[in-house]
Amino acid sequence: MATGIPKNNWNGIKPLPNGCTGTGGGKTDVHVVYEGKKDEQEIFETKPAQCRLLWSKRCETTEPNRLYFGDNLAVLAALAKAPQVRGQVRLVYIDPPYATRSVFQSRKQTDAYVDLLEGAHYLEFLRERLILLRELLADDGSIYVHLDDKMAFIVKAVMDEVFGRANFRNWITRKKCNPKNYTRNVYGNVSDFILFYTKTADYVWHRPVDAWTEQRACKEYSYAEPGTGRRFKKVPVHAPGVRNGETGKPWRGKNPPPGKHWQYPPKTLDAMDARGEIFWSSNGNPRRKIYLDSSAGVPIQDIWLDFRDAHNQNIKISGYPTEKNSSLISRIIEASSDRGDLVLDCFAGSGTTMAVASHLGRRWIGVDNSVEAIQTTLRRFAKGLEPMGDFVNKEEPGEAEASIEATLPLFDTPTPLRVEGPDIAQHTPITALGLFAQEPYQGELDAVVDQWKDWIGPPVSVREKSAAYSVKRNSKKLLAKRSPRIVAKATRSLAAVPLR
Ligand SMILES: C[S@@+](CC[C@H](N)C(=O)[O-])C[C@H]1O[C@@H](n2cnc3c(N)ncnc32)[C@H](O)[C@@H]1O
Repeated sequence: MATGIPKNNWNGIKPLPNGCTGTGGGKTDVHVVYEGKKDEQEIFETKPAQCRLLWSKRCETTEPNRLYFGDNLAVLAALAKAPQVRGQVRLVYIDPPYATRSVFQSRKQTDAYVDLLEGAHYLEFLRERLILLRELLADDGSIYVHLDDKMAFIVKAVMDEVFGRANFRNWITRKKCNPKNYTRNVYGNVSDFILFYTKTADYVWHRPVDAWTEQRACKEYSYAEPGTGRRFKKVPVHAPGVRNGETGKPWRGKNPPPGKHWQYPPKTLDAMDARGEIFWSSNGNPRRKIYLDSSAGVPIQDIWLDFRDAHNQNIKISGYPTEKNSSLISRIIEASSDRGDLVLDCFAGSGTTMAVASHLGRRWIGVDNSVEAIQTTLRRFAKGLEPMGDFVNKEEPGEAEASIEATLPLFDTPTPLRVEGPDIAQHTPITALGLFAQEPYQGELDAVVDQWKDWIGPPVSVREKSAAYSVKRNSKKLLAKRSPRIVAKATRSLAAVPLR
């Protein structure tokens, strides 16, 4: 495999004028130009949403778990003014509309959301939100944007502008479904994409790995150390590029191979050798030993084959259109956040991100402007998911056959699939949250909130509990009179304070 050597000249000729590195920052930056592109300042001046508290159950450890019903631009603008959120979000995952010119219906055939913006309108819609999301991110925070092939390319260019080309980390390709039985003369479209950026170079990162299988470990770590029996593999101890310093000089009388330098200075190499970490070949060439027992597993690469969205009748889903695989979201949350961190999804849909965040001990904020999305999320929080077959069975006869996704695969890779998200294996209701609606609220969620209350019972906040307790100590009769006022006061005070 050819490896390039980082350089900024060739035979002494610089391809770029002085001061231009071509790696972001400076005169070589690429800008996306389109009609209607706003100045960042104009976006910062977005009118913040006024929000009404519809329901809440407080819990110190999950504060501020919040689900907002409203337009995410105005809600993000409001969050950008809340010191508990601005600069505090460790991870953003968003799965926005993809510019498909479609209306999406749930499995119950209810309209869930529309995706009608196109071209520059779409791009600016997303850019406005990305700019506000950047303000909400912590300095060591990350953002993942899930898209398909319609807009991913141009959104990447916009994200380079918003977050800086140097903060681009990965373009992840996901296999989203089984092979399709296309009649068009094109290759089957089974992939979508996740763009991963960080706010700065110093970010939370827990490298995800696949556990070793016996077979794979033996193949890759094919040597056993005499004496200890530890399995190891051999890797070069040199790297590309010539150096004039000590790593370019002979070590133990041996020069680095032509065009290379030693990876470590002689002192470090000596120490490694003394620890038995250098393998000497029969003709006296050094190699570095990498031990199997110091490897947590096979590092995950940027093609993800094992997270298809729901594809058979037994997989549990919410029934919301374009709902994402919970295990996919788990990987992202575990890689780019810690327990207790704040995770945000402002295209929340069926609440996949929030449900997984809760189960992984993260706090969260979700936003969606669809009644169907909020209802689905609350149902999922209260009752969990249902096998996909249950939705299919409720359809009219013949409808299930229309989708090849609902049938068995034609061909498939042997990759084991991760379909059991943490919330699927064992459902634990999620009830510690605040539900907010953007003003002017016109009662769109009244029925949904009533249903939610039926599912989980009335909220009991810590404050109400202690108020009720102290009143109870005085007199049960008094409690009956005062309790509604105490509850109303507690609710009012929560609504008045933007967060916390
Ligand atoms: C692709 S779906 C997200 C699905 C989600 N990842 C899941 O697993 O269920 C996109 C969501 O964005 C929401 N949405 C679109 N425009 C919005 C806006 N301006 N404000 C808030 N939500 C919006 C839609 O209602 C829809 O639920």
